[in-house]
Amino acid sequence: MTEHVQVNTRFRPRRLRQNIAIRQLVEEIQVSSNDLVQPLFILPGNSDPTEVSSMPGIFRRDLQDTLKECEQLLKLGIKAIAPFPQIDSSFKTAEGLHAVEDGCFLYEALSTIKKEFPELIVFSDLALDPYTTHGHDGLLGEDGTVLNDETVNLLSQMALKVAETGVDFVAPSDMMDGRVGAIRDLLDQSNFINTGILSYCVKYNSAFYGPFRDAVGSKMKSGYVDKGTYQMNPANIRDILREVKLDESEGADILMVKPAGAYLDVIKEVSNCSDLPISAYQVSGEYAQLYAAHMNGWLDLESCVRESLLGIKRAGAQLILTYFAKSFASGKFG
Ligand code: PBG
Repeated sequence: MTEHVQVNTRFRPRRLRQNIAIRQLVEEIQVSSNDLVQPLFILPGNSDPTEVSSMPGIFRRDLQDTLKECEQLLKLGIKAIAPFPQIDSSFKTAEGLHAVEDGCFLYEALSTIKKEFPELIVFSDLALDPYTTHGHDGLLGEDGTVLNDETVNLLSQMALKVAETGVDFVAPSDMMDGRVGAIRDLLDQSNFINTGILSYCVKYNSAFYGPFRDAVGSKMKSGYVDKGTYQMNPANIRDILREVKLDESEGADILMVKPAGAYLDVIKEVSNCSDLPISAYQVSGEYAQLYAAHMNGWLDLESCVRESLLGIKRAGAQLILTYFAKSFASGKFG
């Protein structure tokens, strides 16, 4: 023992960390199942579930199995889902028009889910990437640029079809300009005043979406689809103010930041500059990272998932889309 070192005893933050009860009394943030939304991948027709190879533990399911999954989620206390369809390649075209066709299996699937489980909150993604042969979220012009207004027009039609199924929120994830206002107008004119809009307001052009593109089959054989002309530049933070102001003025109900883990500063910034609820999406690549480390025995999955969700909530998100929602609620990890 060194006796000559004098340490001040007056200010000792460790007094508040002495035991779990004190730590819990002074704890600021808790994540609960009430905050979480489970993304689900839905297959057409009847088939067995297939695991997404880059997302072990996550399955694509047909409607019957999706309904069973919804029932389990509700029992576990997860009250919201975000379904994503895998569209058969025979229905994909450059224009992605299957997105607004009556025959598209997604609409029947959404109606059935809402009929069976009216209390389950459904956030339905709006973007063309599952439906286009090129994998972009919008229509392409002759020179290969993604056309803004033509895409917004199609997305608005899609929003109407989705709203007719009874879902609670449409969630435009395409990053076209002006789409929230156009969708709001069309929904209102069609008497869907209670269908909400969760806007993917601040969505970055991220490589962390890779496993998702495997899951829904929007990854192109030609390789990586660069969405840099519409999704935001990961190097920027000042742009978000414009996006937030526009989406607020166009009538968004909830603002989304995506991805979450590498963008906690962005979540904080958005929650500081808006009084709308903030959601954050812990995306497929974030799931894959944690799960891969778990499979290698390198990280404790449950602790790391809990910590990552705490971080996202602490940054300012009230609701979190995460592929770990079911594990979180059931306590069964890996
Ligand atoms: C489609 C969409 C994407 C995600 C959600 N909606 C992919 C993309 O923009 O390429 C990604 C979700 C994830 O990675 O988990 N527009």
